[in-house]
Amino acid sequence: MAEEQKTGIVETKTVLSGIKPTGELTLGNYIGALKNWIGLQGQYRCFYAVADLHAITIDIVPSELRNRSLDLYAMFIALGLDPEKCVLFVQSHVPAHAELTWVLNCFTQFGEAKRMTQFKDKSQKNPQNINVGLFDYPVLQASDILLYQAHYVPIGKDQQQHLELSRVIAERFNNRYSPTFVVPEGIYPKFGAKVFSLSDPAAKMGKSEEDAGGCVFLTDDADTVRRKFKRAVTDSDTFIKYDPAKKPGVSNLLTIYASMAGVTVKAAESEFAGKNYVDLKEKTAEAVIETLRPKIEAFKKLRADKNYLAALMKSGAEKAAETARKTLAKVYKKIGFIDPRG
Ligand code: TYM
Repeated sequence: MAEEQKTGIVETKTVLSGIKPTGELTLGNYIGALKNWIGLQGQYRCFYAVADLHAITIDIVPSELRNRSLDLYAMFIALGLDPEKCVLFVQSHVPAHAELTWVLNCFTQFGEAKRMTQFKDKSQKNPQNINVGLFDYPVLQASDILLYQAHYVPIGKDQQQHLELSRVIAERFNNRYSPTFVVPEGIYPKFGAKVFSLSDPAAKMGKSEEDAGGCVFLTDDADTVRRKFKRAVTDSDTFIKYDPAKKPGVSNLLTIYASMAGVTVKAAESEFAGKNYVDLKEKTAEAVIETLRPKIEAFKKLRADKNYLAALMKSGAEKAAETARKTLAKVYKKIGFIDPRG
Protein backbone atom coordinates (compact mmCIF):
# COMPACT_ATOMS: atom_id res chain seq x y z
CA MET A 1 0.00 0.00 0.00
CA ALA A 2 2.80 2.45 1.00
CA GLU A 3 4.52 1.63 -2.26
CA GLU A 4 1.32 2.32 -4.12
CA GLN A 5 1.02 5.77 -2.53
CA LYS A 6 4.58 6.64 -3.47
CA THR A 7 4.39 5.62 -7.09
CA GLY A 8 0.69 5.91 -7.81
CA ILE A 9 0.95 2.53 -9.54
CA VAL A 10 -1.13 -0.34 -8.27
CA GLU A 11 0.76 -3.56 -8.77
CA THR A 12 -1.61 -5.84 -10.64
CA LYS A 13 -1.48 -9.43 -9.63
CA THR A 14 -2.91 -12.17 -11.78
CA VAL A 15 -5.74 -14.58 -11.04
CA LEU A 16 -6.60 -17.72 -12.98
CA SER A 17 -9.20 -20.39 -12.54
CA GLY A 18 -11.27 -22.82 -14.58
CA ILE A 19 -14.31 -25.05 -14.53
CA LYS A 20 -14.78 -28.12 -16.65
CA PRO A 21 -17.91 -28.30 -18.81
CA THR A 22 -18.93 -31.80 -17.79
CA GLY A 23 -22.31 -31.16 -16.20
CA GLU A 24 -24.65 -28.48 -15.01
CA LEU A 25 -23.13 -25.92 -12.67
CA THR A 26 -23.93 -26.66 -9.04
CA LEU A 27 -24.38 -24.54 -5.95
CA GLY A 28 -21.00 -25.96 -4.91
CA ASN A 29 -19.33 -24.45 -7.99
CA TYR A 30 -21.02 -21.13 -7.36
CA ILE A 31 -20.37 -20.82 -3.63
CA GLY A 32 -16.95 -22.51 -3.66
CA ALA A 33 -15.48 -20.81 -6.69
CA LEU A 34 -17.55 -18.55 -8.94
CA LYS A 35 -18.58 -16.07 -6.25
CA ASN A 36 -14.92 -15.44 -5.53
CA TRP A 37 -14.12 -15.13 -9.24
CA ILE A 38 -16.69 -12.38 -9.54
CA GLY A 39 -15.35 -10.54 -6.49
CA LEU A 40 -11.79 -10.63 -7.80
CA GLN A 41 -12.45 -9.14 -11.24
CA GLY A 42 -11.56 -5.49 -11.44
CA GLN A 43 -9.10 -5.86 -8.55
CA TYR A 44 -6.72 -8.14 -10.40
CA ARG A 45 -5.90 -9.24 -13.90
CA CYS A 46 -8.22 -12.22 -14.13
CA PHE A 47 -8.28 -15.14 -16.55
CA TYR A 48 -11.17 -17.59 -16.35
CA ALA A 49 -11.41 -20.69 -18.51
CA VAL A 50 -13.97 -23.16 -19.72
CA ALA A 51 -11.67 -26.13 -19.15
CA ASP A 52 -12.80 -28.29 -22.05
CA LEU A 53 -9.49 -30.16 -22.41
CA HIS A 54 -10.13 -31.47 -18.90
CA ALA A 55 -13.63 -32.62 -19.88
CA ILE A 56 -12.48 -35.38 -22.25
CA THR A 57 -10.79 -37.39 -19.50
CA ILE A 58 -14.24 -38.93 -19.14
CA ASP A 59 -16.27 -40.29 -22.04
CA ILE A 60 -18.42 -37.39 -23.21
CA VAL A 61 -20.68 -37.17 -26.27
CA PRO A 62 -19.34 -34.47 -28.68
CA SER A 63 -22.62 -32.57 -29.00
CA GLU A 64 -22.94 -32.56 -25.22
CA LEU A 65 -19.43 -31.19 -24.79
CA ARG A 66 -20.12 -28.44 -27.33
CA ASN A 67 -23.40 -27.45 -25.69
CA ARG A 68 -22.05 -27.58 -22.18
CA SER A 69 -19.06 -25.43 -23.14
CA LEU A 70 -21.40 -22.80 -24.60
CA ASP A 71 -23.66 -23.03 -21.55
CA LEU A 72 -20.75 -22.55 -19.20
CA TYR A 73 -19.32 -19.61 -21.12
CA ALA A 74 -22.75 -17.90 -21.18
CA MET A 75 -23.20 -18.72 -17.50
CA PHE A 76 -19.89 -17.03 -16.61
CA ILE A 77 -21.27 -13.77 -17.99
CA ALA A 78 -24.80 -14.22 -16.65
CA LEU A 79 -23.48 -14.82 -13.15
CA GLY A 80 -21.59 -11.55 -13.21
CA LEU A 81 -18.22 -11.97 -14.91
CA ASP A 82 -17.66 -8.99 -17.14
CA PRO A 83 -15.69 -9.65 -20.36
CA GLU A 84 -14.42 -6.07 -20.14
CA LYS A 85 -12.92 -6.71 -16.72
CA CYS A 86 -11.56 -10.22 -17.14
CA VAL A 87 -10.45 -12.57 -19.86
CA LEU A 88 -13.03 -15.31 -20.43
CA PHE A 89 -11.78 -18.03 -22.72
CA VAL A 90 -12.12 -21.63 -23.81
CA GLN A 91 -9.06 -23.67 -22.92
CA SER A 92 -8.83 -25.58 -26.23
CA HIS A 93 -8.68 -22.24 -28.10
CA VAL A 94 -5.24 -21.63 -26.62
CA PRO A 95 -2.81 -24.32 -27.83
CA ALA A 96 -0.16 -23.36 -25.28
CA HIS A 97 -2.06 -25.29 -22.59
CA ALA A 98 -1.41 -28.61 -24.30
CA GLU A 99 2.12 -27.58 -25.25
CA LEU A 100 3.21 -26.60 -21.76
CA THR A 101 1.63 -29.77 -20.39
CA TRP A 102 4.10 -31.89 -22.32
CA VAL A 103 6.99 -29.98 -20.84
CA LEU A 104 5.61 -30.09 -17.31
CA ASN A 105 5.00 -33.84 -17.65
CA CYS A 106 8.75 -34.14 -17.70
CA PHE A 107 8.96 -32.26 -14.41
CA THR A 108 6.33 -34.31 -12.61
CA GLN A 109 7.08 -37.58 -10.91
CA PHE A 110 4.87 -40.57 -11.59
CA GLY A 111 4.44 -41.06 -7.84
CA GLU A 112 3.25 -37.48 -7.39
CA ALA A 113 0.52 -37.84 -9.98
CA LYS A 114 -0.44 -41.25 -8.57
CA ARG A 115 -1.08 -39.75 -5.14
CA MET A 116 -3.82 -37.40 -6.37
CA THR A 117 -7.02 -38.34 -4.57
CA GLN A 118 -9.25 -37.24 -7.46
CA PHE A 119 -7.37 -39.62 -9.76
CA LYS A 120 -7.83 -42.43 -7.26
CA ASP A 121 -11.54 -41.67 -6.76
CA LYS A 122 -12.29 -41.32 -10.44
CA SER A 123 -10.37 -44.49 -11.36
CA GLN A 124 -12.26 -46.40 -8.72
CA LYS A 125 -15.64 -45.11 -9.89
CA ASN A 126 -14.85 -45.71 -13.54
CA PRO A 127 -12.50 -48.73 -13.78
CA GLN A 128 -13.20 -49.29 -17.49
CA ASN A 129 -11.73 -45.92 -18.51
CA ILE A 130 -8.61 -45.14 -16.49
CA ASN A 131 -6.98 -43.26 -19.36
CA VAL A 132 -3.60 -41.54 -19.29
CA GLY A 133 -5.35 -38.16 -19.61
CA LEU A 134 -7.10 -38.76 -16.30
CA PHE A 135 -3.72 -39.44 -14.73
CA ASP A 136 -2.18 -36.38 -16.36
CA TYR A 137 -5.07 -34.08 -15.54
CA PRO A 138 -3.33 -32.26 -12.65
CA VAL A 139 -0.34 -31.48 -14.88
CA LEU A 140 -2.68 -29.89 -17.42
CA GLN A 141 -4.17 -27.92 -14.55
CA ALA A 142 -0.67 -26.80 -13.51
CA SER A 143 -0.11 -25.60 -17.08
CA ASP A 144 -3.37 -23.63 -17.00
CA ILE A 145 -2.19 -21.80 -13.93
CA LEU A 146 1.52 -21.37 -14.65
CA LEU A 147 1.05 -20.17 -18.24
CA TYR A 148 -0.60 -17.00 -16.96
CA GLN A 149 1.88 -16.46 -14.10
CA ALA A 150 -1.11 -16.53 -11.76
CA HIS A 151 -0.50 -15.36 -8.20
CA TYR A 152 -3.94 -16.46 -7.03
CA VAL A 153 -6.23 -19.34 -7.89
CA PRO A 154 -9.80 -19.11 -6.55
CA ILE A 155 -11.03 -22.68 -6.02
CA GLY A 156 -12.94 -24.94 -3.65
CA LYS A 157 -11.18 -27.27 -1.20
CA ASP A 158 -11.40 -30.27 -3.53
CA GLN A 159 -8.88 -28.61 -5.85
CA GLN A 160 -6.32 -27.86 -3.15
CA GLN A 161 -4.21 -30.95 -3.78
CA HIS A 162 -4.00 -30.12 -7.50
CA LEU A 163 -2.90 -26.59 -6.64
CA GLU A 164 -0.23 -27.93 -4.30
CA LEU A 165 1.14 -30.03 -7.16
CA SER A 166 1.23 -26.93 -9.39
CA ARG A 167 3.33 -25.21 -6.75
CA VAL A 168 5.72 -28.16 -6.54
CA ILE A 169 6.13 -28.24 -10.33
CA ALA A 170 6.68 -24.47 -10.52
CA GLU A 171 9.30 -24.54 -7.80
CA ARG A 172 11.07 -27.51 -9.33
CA PHE A 173 11.28 -25.81 -12.72
CA ASN A 174 12.41 -22.51 -11.16
CA ASN A 175 15.15 -24.30 -9.22
CA ARG A 176 16.32 -26.34 -12.19
CA TYR A 177 16.67 -23.28 -14.46
CA SER A 178 16.01 -19.82 -13.01
CA PRO A 179 12.84 -18.11 -11.76
CA THR A 180 10.33 -18.67 -14.56
CA PHE A 181 6.95 -19.25 -12.97
CA VAL A 182 5.09 -17.40 -10.27
CA VAL A 183 4.33 -19.91 -7.51
CA PRO A 184 0.54 -19.67 -7.12
CA GLU A 185 -1.58 -19.51 -3.99
CA GLY A 186 -5.15 -20.75 -3.56
CA ILE A 187 -8.01 -18.45 -2.61
CA TYR A 188 -10.83 -20.17 -0.76
CA PRO A 189 -14.12 -18.71 0.42
CA LYS A 190 -14.32 -17.96 4.18
CA PHE A 191 -17.20 -20.43 4.34
CA GLY A 192 -18.47 -22.77 1.65
CA ALA A 193 -15.06 -23.96 0.41
CA LYS A 194 -16.72 -27.36 0.50
CA VAL A 195 -20.47 -27.44 0.01
CA PHE A 196 -21.95 -30.81 0.93
CA SER A 197 -24.68 -32.89 -0.65
CA LEU A 198 -28.15 -32.20 0.76
CA SER A 199 -28.85 -35.91 0.93
CA ASP A 200 -25.49 -36.90 2.41
CA PRO A 201 -23.81 -34.14 4.40
CA ALA A 202 -20.61 -36.18 4.56
CA ALA A 203 -20.18 -36.09 0.75
CA LYS A 204 -19.25 -33.20 -1.50
CA MET A 205 -22.07 -31.70 -3.54
CA GLY A 206 -20.96 -32.69 -7.03
CA LYS A 207 -22.20 -32.72 -10.60
CA SER A 208 -21.57 -36.41 -11.02
CA GLU A 209 -23.26 -37.44 -7.82
CA GLU A 210 -25.43 -40.52 -8.23
CA ASP A 211 -28.11 -39.05 -6.00
CA ALA A 212 -29.27 -36.01 -7.98
CA GLY A 213 -31.59 -35.05 -5.10
CA GLY A 214 -28.63 -33.95 -3.01
CA CYS A 215 -27.17 -31.67 -5.64
CA VAL A 216 -28.73 -28.30 -6.48
CA PHE A 217 -28.06 -27.15 -10.03
CA LEU A 218 -28.10 -23.45 -10.85
CA THR A 219 -30.65 -24.10 -13.60
CA ASP A 220 -33.06 -26.09 -11.39
CA ASP A 221 -36.53 -24.54 -11.42
CA ALA A 222 -37.93 -23.05 -8.21
CA ASP A 223 -40.07 -26.08 -7.32
CA THR A 224 -37.16 -28.46 -7.75
CA VAL A 225 -34.99 -26.27 -5.52
CA ARG A 226 -37.74 -26.19 -2.84
CA ARG A 227 -38.19 -29.95 -3.03
CA LYS A 228 -34.47 -30.64 -2.72
CA PHE A 229 -34.13 -28.42 0.34
CA LYS A 230 -37.31 -29.82 1.90
CA ARG A 231 -35.75 -33.28 1.78
CA ALA A 232 -32.33 -32.16 3.00
CA VAL A 233 -30.87 -34.44 5.67
CA THR A 234 -30.50 -32.70 9.04
CA ASP A 235 -30.40 -34.48 12.43
CA SER A 236 -32.68 -35.52 15.28
CA ASP A 237 -32.06 -32.38 17.40
CA THR A 238 -34.37 -29.43 17.08
CA PHE A 239 -32.00 -26.46 17.45
CA ILE A 240 -30.10 -24.57 14.76
CA LYS A 241 -26.39 -24.23 15.41
CA TYR A 242 -23.28 -24.09 13.24
CA ASP A 243 -21.32 -27.16 14.27
CA PRO A 244 -19.94 -29.02 11.23
CA ALA A 245 -18.67 -31.98 13.29
CA LYS A 246 -21.86 -32.68 15.24
CA LYS A 247 -24.46 -31.12 12.95
CA PRO A 248 -23.11 -31.39 9.40
CA GLY A 249 -26.49 -31.15 7.62
CA VAL A 250 -27.66 -28.07 9.51
CA SER A 251 -24.22 -26.44 9.21
CA ASN A 252 -24.27 -27.02 5.47
CA LEU A 253 -27.68 -25.37 5.19
CA LEU A 254 -26.49 -22.41 7.27
CA THR A 255 -23.44 -22.08 5.03
CA ILE A 256 -25.57 -22.11 1.88
CA TYR A 257 -28.02 -19.63 3.36
CA ALA A 258 -25.26 -17.27 4.50
CA SER A 259 -23.51 -17.37 1.15
CA MET A 260 -26.65 -16.82 -0.90
CA ALA A 261 -28.14 -14.16 1.39
CA GLY A 262 -24.79 -12.37 1.61
CA VAL A 263 -24.42 -12.57 5.40
CA THR A 264 -21.90 -14.27 7.67
CA VAL A 265 -22.55 -17.72 9.12
CA LYS A 266 -22.66 -16.10 12.58
CA ALA A 267 -25.36 -13.69 11.47
CA ALA A 268 -27.31 -16.55 9.87
CA GLU A 269 -27.05 -18.52 13.10
CA SER A 270 -28.54 -15.64 15.13
CA GLU A 271 -31.23 -15.06 12.53
CA PHE A 272 -32.41 -18.64 12.94
CA ALA A 273 -32.08 -18.81 16.73
CA GLY A 274 -35.29 -20.32 18.11
CA LYS A 275 -36.57 -21.26 14.64
CA ASN A 276 -37.02 -24.83 13.43
CA TYR A 277 -35.50 -26.88 10.60
CA VAL A 278 -38.48 -26.29 8.32
CA ASP A 279 -37.85 -22.51 8.55
CA LEU A 280 -34.17 -23.00 7.80
CA LYS A 281 -34.87 -25.21 4.77
CA GLU A 282 -37.55 -22.91 3.37
CA LYS A 283 -35.57 -19.71 3.87
CA THR A 284 -32.46 -21.27 2.36
CA ALA A 285 -34.39 -22.46 -0.69
CA GLU A 286 -35.87 -18.98 -1.15
CA ALA A 287 -32.46 -17.31 -0.81
CA VAL A 288 -31.12 -19.62 -3.52
CA ILE A 289 -34.10 -19.05 -5.83
CA GLU A 290 -34.14 -15.27 -5.43
CA THR A 291 -30.39 -14.85 -5.86
CA LEU A 292 -30.29 -16.97 -8.98
CA ARG A 293 -33.53 -15.92 -10.69
CA PRO A 294 -32.24 -12.79 -12.50
CA LYS A 295 -28.99 -14.53 -13.39
CA ILE A 296 -30.77 -17.45 -14.99
CA GLU A 297 -32.99 -15.07 -16.96
CA ALA A 298 -29.84 -13.35 -18.23
CA PHE A 299 -28.31 -16.73 -19.03
CA LYS A 300 -31.23 -17.72 -21.27
CA LYS A 301 -30.92 -14.52 -23.32
CA LEU A 302 -27.16 -14.76 -23.65
CA ARG A 303 -27.20 -18.42 -24.54
CA ALA A 304 -29.54 -17.73 -27.45
CA ASP A 305 -27.11 -15.22 -28.95
CA LYS A 306 -24.52 -17.52 -30.49
CA ASN A 307 -22.82 -14.81 -32.56
CA TYR A 308 -22.26 -12.64 -29.52
CA LEU A 309 -20.78 -15.58 -27.59
CA ALA A 310 -18.57 -16.55 -30.55
CA ALA A 311 -17.20 -13.01 -30.80
CA LEU A 312 -16.45 -12.89 -27.08
CA MET A 313 -14.79 -16.30 -27.19
CA LYS A 314 -12.59 -15.17 -30.05
CA SER A 315 -11.39 -12.04 -28.33
CA GLY A 316 -10.96 -13.89 -25.01
CA ALA A 317 -8.83 -16.53 -26.73
CA GLU A 318 -6.66 -13.87 -28.39
CA LYS A 319 -5.99 -12.11 -25.11
CA ALA A 320 -5.29 -15.36 -23.27
CA ALA A 321 -3.04 -16.67 -26.04
CA GLU A 322 -0.93 -13.52 -26.01
CA THR A 323 -0.01 -14.00 -22.36
CA ALA A 324 0.30 -17.77 -22.62
CA ARG A 325 2.62 -17.59 -25.65
CA LYS A 326 5.04 -15.37 -23.76
CA THR A 327 5.40 -17.86 -20.93
CA LEU A 328 5.73 -20.78 -23.32
CA ALA A 329 8.46 -19.00 -25.29
CA LYS A 330 10.36 -18.34 -22.07
CA VAL A 331 10.05 -21.98 -21.04
CA TYR A 332 11.17 -23.32 -24.43
CA LYS A 333 14.19 -21.06 -24.40
CA LYS A 334 15.26 -22.10 -20.91
CA ILE A 335 14.93 -25.77 -21.74
CA GLY A 336 17.13 -25.43 -24.80
CA PHE A 337 14.66 -25.73 -27.67
CA ILE A 338 15.80 -23.90 -30.80
CA ASP A 339 13.78 -20.78 -31.62
CA PRO A 340 12.33 -21.44 -35.10
CA ARG A 341 12.62 -17.71 -35.89
CA GLY A 342 16.38 -17.97 -35.51
P1 TYM B 1 -14.62 -28.43 -11.30
O1 TYM B 1 -15.11 -28.13 -12.66
O2 TYM B 1 -14.90 -29.80 -10.74
O3 TYM B 1 -15.18 -27.39 -10.25
C1 TYM B 1 -15.10 -26.00 -10.49
C2 TYM B 1 -14.87 -25.25 -9.20
O4 TYM B 1 -15.93 -25.49 -8.27
C3 TYM B 1 -15.39 -25.91 -7.02
N1 TYM B 1 -16.33 -26.85 -6.40
C4 TYM B 1 -16.78 -26.75 -5.14
N2 TYM B 1 -16.52 -25.87 -4.17
C5 TYM B 1 -17.17 -26.05 -2.99
N3 TYM B 1 -18.02 -27.08 -2.74
C6 TYM B 1 -18.30 -28.00 -3.69
N4 TYM B 1 -19.16 -28.98 -3.46
C7 TYM B 1 -17.66 -27.86 -4.97
N5 TYM B 1 -17.70 -28.57 -6.11
C8 TYM B 1 -16.87 -27.95 -6.98
C9 TYM B 1 -14.07 -26.58 -7.37
O5 TYM B 1 -13.20 -26.62 -6.27
C10 TYM B 1 -13.58 -25.69 -8.50
O6 TYM B 1 -12.91 -24.56 -7.98
N6 TYM B 1 -9.87 -29.23 -12.41
C11 TYM B 1 -10.83 -28.21 -12.08
C12 TYM B 1 -11.01 -27.17 -13.16
C13 TYM B 1 -9.76 -26.49 -13.57
C14 TYM B 1 -9.02 -25.52 -12.84
C15 TYM B 1 -7.93 -25.19 -13.65
C16 TYM B 1 -9.19 -24.94 -11.58
C17 TYM B 1 -9.11 -26.70 -14.74
N7 TYM B 1 -8.02 -25.90 -14.80
C18 TYM B 1 -6.95 -24.27 -13.24
C19 TYM B 1 -8.23 -24.01 -11.18
C20 TYM B 1 -7.14 -23.69 -11.99
C21 TYM B 1 -12.16 -28.88 -11.86
O7 TYM B 1 -12.39 -29.96 -12.32
O8 TYM B 1 -13.07 -28.12 -11.19
